[in-house]
Amino acid sequence: MRTIHLNARSGTCEIAIGAHLEDVSSWINGRRCVIITDKNVSHFYRNTFPSGHLIEIDPGEKSKTLETVHSVYEKLLGYELDRKDLILGIGGGVVCDLAGFVASTYLRGISFGFVASSLLAQVDAGIGGKNGVDFKGFKNIIGVIRQPEFVICDLRMLKTLERKEYIGGMAEVIKYGAIMDINLFNYCENHISEILSINPDITEEVVFRSVKNKVKLVEIDEFETGERTKLNFGHTFAHGLEKITGLAHGEAVSIGMNLAGEISVREKLLAEKDALQLKSLIQIAGLPVSLNMDPVKLYQAIRKDKKKRGDRIGLVLLEELGKSVIHYMEINRLSNILNDLCRNSK
Ligand SMILES: NC(=O)c1ccc[n+]([C@@H]2O[C@H](COP(=O)([O-])OP(=O)(O)OC[C@H]3O[C@@H](n4cnc5c(N)ncnc54)[C@H](O)[C@@H]3O)[C@@H](O)[C@H]2O)c1
Repeated sequence: MRTIHLNARSGTCEIAIGAHLEDVSSWINGRRCVIITDKNVSHFYRNTFPSGHLIEIDPGEKSKTLETVHSVYEKLLGYELDRKDLILGIGGGVVCDLAGFVASTYLRGISFGFVASSLLAQVDAGIGGKNGVDFKGFKNIIGVIRQPEFVICDLRMLKTLERKEYIGGMAEVIKYGAIMDINLFNYCENHISEILSINPDITEEVVFRSVKNKVKLVEIDEFETGERTKLNFGHTFAHGLEKITGLAHGEAVSIGMNLAGEISVREKLLAEKDALQLKSLIQIAGLPVSLNMDPVKLYQAIRKDKKKRGDRIGLVLLEELGKSVIHYMEINRLSNILNDLCRNSK
């Protein structure tokens, strides 16, 4: 087990990588506890949950709403929860985002912690204090930034995760490598088969290095005014793709990262061989790099992206593998490049 301490303006957090669900009692430390989980996670792990009231939500993004928050608040009222108690989210990114939001708003904020059970939650969603829900089709539009007290990343729980969910989480690991950590990138290249078979030591290393990178960016820029934006590498395209095609997040991020790599080459920021190396790692991880898509639709979805300055759009691009930059480019130029890239990928 290895721990990483996150020290941010909104609070501090202990992240325990390789700790176990059963160890969580020592973090709860005698407090009364309400567990929020989803029905899949509960099915596999209910017997190992610590004692406390249990709230189960339906699995998936459709539960990340104010309606679910409302029903959880009602249960908390019934349990007569007070400010000395703790909310424990046990699950993937949906449970962490929702439990963190409930805990940050109920009684103007009570303590909370997570047992992150999906790869995406362990390397990304559980870390960094962004808590929130979707509203009227807009993802994560209602929320707060507040740190959990602790995050336990129990690597054994990844074994029951569906294969496509696990591989989807790898997209975010590759992202950290591409934007800021060439050693992690190379580590993934050299150990891809052990990573895909969830070898405990190798997976622990990958989660540890990913969390370290995220913590670094959060500590510099918790409220995302600069450096933290780099975590959006590939995501501007991914959000567009998810909307147009209904593609899973990890797959959309992979296609988005490959597009961003190719655009970096067109903008003369990145060597072509580096873009190919990125593409190759995405592919050997079992993730897609292209899709037969209408560039006009993609371009229209991206135009609405919030990172715009007049007729220029801010994109996270690469200068080399392991080094990213926020690059503003003319929207018309982006549209021409997208047209070209989509035509060539057919
Ligand atoms: N707060 C942030 O900074 C941040 C960052 C990235 C993503 N997110 C959010 O994270 C969410 C996606 O997270 P996710 O991919 O973990 O989705 P998820 O929580 O829906 O989990 C994916 C599926 O795996 C199941 N599952 C989770 N752990 C399991 C386990 N150990 N065994 C068996 N099944 C398990 C879940 O029930 C669900 O069906 C999105 O809502 C996204 O917006 C938040």
